[in-house]
Amino acid sequence: MSDDARPLLLVLPGSEHLGNDLAATLGAEIGRLALRAFPDGETYVRLDTAPDGRSVILLCSLHEPDRRLVPLLLVAATARDLGARRVGLVAPYLAYMRQDARFRSGEGVSSRYVGRLLSSAIDWLVTVDPHLHRHRSLDEVYAVPATAVTAAPAIAAWLRREVRAPFLVGPDGESAQWVRAVASAADAPFVVLDKVRHGDRAVDVSVPRIDGWRDRTPVLVDDIISTATTMAETVRQLRGAGLPPPICIGVHAVFAADAERVLRDAGAGRVVTCDTIAHPTNAIDVSALLAPVLRGHLG
Ligand code: R5P
Repeated sequence: MSDDARPLLLVLPGSEHLGNDLAATLGAEIGRLALRAFPDGETYVRLDTAPDGRSVILLCSLHEPDRRLVPLLLVAATARDLGARRVGLVAPYLAYMRQDARFRSGEGVSSRYVGRLLSSAIDWLVTVDPHLHRHRSLDEVYAVPATAVTAAPAIAAWLRREVRAPFLVGPDGESAQWVRAVASAADAPFVVLDKVRHGDRAVDVSVPRIDGWRDRTPVLVDDIISTATTMAETVRQLRGAGLPPPICIGVHAVFAADAERVLRDAGAGRVVTCDTIAHPTNAIDVSALLAPVLRGHLG
């Protein structure tokens, strides 16, 4: 059995940008992991650092999840098979949280199924601002101890540094939880709009009276920027009401297809995201928020 008492951090593809900082703050060793595709597309896994007897942390942000989930499950299973004491997952972006109900008959509730799948492979989970809407907590979805860290303090600190007199706008009811927390920490006023979604790329957003805040800088805050339809429509409405280009802040820079262009074409000002998913718009670091919670799970 390995006599190395340090946690072993295994960094999966797409999360390399967070690996060194996390390893340094946790005093973890970054393990050597070989992952490649066989010619037939199946995934080959090899751990070149022995995990036996050690606490293993898998770092895997789950954007584009369908190509990340199988390698993640295989690495987790390999670590367990080779004697890891515990295997935890840090998924700064946790996918499949938005299909959280059966909206039309016959639909699958993917959040629950993916939660069940991952829970079978790991001993604990830490993530950042998961999309909790119809599920009130991760415990409704995950069978293992799961902690949601919020990026709100880091976003508020960025706002205090970078933006004079912000006024925060949440594009829909779901965003209220993030906007309220950021507004309170940044000591800024906020408003939450009404959104009606008609399809993947079709939403209506209604803007209430905003006359009282015309001398402030509008800042949109949402958890996920995916197709950017939500933010782009909100930007159009605010611009139409005579406001300057709003700063757009997303926790998770999913940016599907041409989403960033869609947002800029709508008239957005600066676009800023947290580094839960590596993207050129990353300006807010979340690794410092993760470390204390991870220490709790490592025991
Ligand atoms: C939905 O409720 C979320 O909070 C986001 O507003 C949504 O996921 C954004 O998606 P999109 O960028 O595709 O409009």
